[in-house]
Amino acid sequence: MTRVANKICLVTGAAGGIGRASALALAAEGATVYAADIDALRVRSAASEIGGHAVALDVTREADWQAAIDELLEREGRLDVLVNNAGRFLLEPLASTRLQDFRALSAVNVDGVFLGCRHGVAAMRRSAPEGQPARGSIVNIASYLGNIGMAGATAYCATKGAVRVLTKSVAVECGSRGEFIRVNSIHPGITRTAMTERLFPPEAWEAPTETFARVPMRSWCTPEDVAAAVVFLASEESSFMTGAEVPVDAGMTAA
Ligand SMILES: NC(=O)c1ccc[n+]([C@@H]2O[C@H](COP(=O)([O-])OP(=O)(O)OC[C@H]3O[C@@H](n4cnc5c(N)ncnc54)[C@H](O)[C@@H]3O)[C@@H](O)[C@H]2O)c1
Repeated sequence: MTRVANKICLVTGAAGGIGRASALALAAEGATVYAADIDALRVRSAASEIGGHAVALDVTREADWQAAIDELLEREGRLDVLVNNAGRFLLEPLASTRLQDFRALSAVNVDGVFLGCRHGVAAMRRSAPEGQPARGSIVNIASYLGNIGMAGATAYCATKGAVRVLTKSVAVECGSRGEFIRVNSIHPGITRTAMTERLFPPEAWEAPTETFARVPMRSWCTPEDVAAAVVFLASEESSFMTGAEVPVDAGMTAA
């Protein structure tokens, strides 16, 4: 299990769900993992399970990013992989979505990814040996709702659409400078995590062929399904992929 052996990885939102599964999968493939989350208590227990390091990080706070990256570079000397996974969901009709709700969601889902890319790219540049181009992989977790709309989720869809094009822009900018910093987005479909658990009653999750009848594969995704794509994009197996959007959505956006 050495697909990302010796890579230094930072995963945000790693206390649970897709972030925790990604951190686990990266560690299982040989990476040194820094598991970051706003929930310092839960991320400490996730990090100890992973055999990694816990980082208290609110992705909306630039000072937190600066401190986390400085400490990681001080200890490891470089950053190879950043997974910008932390995110929140909002199910609210347009008419009752207040501007402050939209801004609070954007702060995590868009500002958080923007700050991650800015500080992640800077760290990868600082990590490059003298005279050599910077290298690394940034994986941004968007959503199938960054590609299509959903009634009652205007704010969320807007933030995830922003992550989709932000990703491509950073990829193009790094590539055009002759750097090997690859930046890609993953677009999960409905994934069973704390974020979605309460959207359906327990029996609905247990009857996926009926609940997800309009999903081509008639099921939900697991956090491990998404984590598998994270490991692929973090590894050298995807060495010529940048600016790409990878759906892990059981066919939802193909239908
Ligand atoms: N679950 C789904 O169906 C689904 C589908 C598509 C995309 N996604 C995206 O996947 C990502 C992970 O979602 P999940 O389903 O695992 O949700 P989750 O709620 O299980 O995990 C999200 C994690 O992010 C952390 N977090 C929230 N705000 C933060 C902040 N400001 N700073 C740092 N950490 C913060 C939370 O504490 C939590 O541990 C999100 O970006 C989400 O939008 C999820």
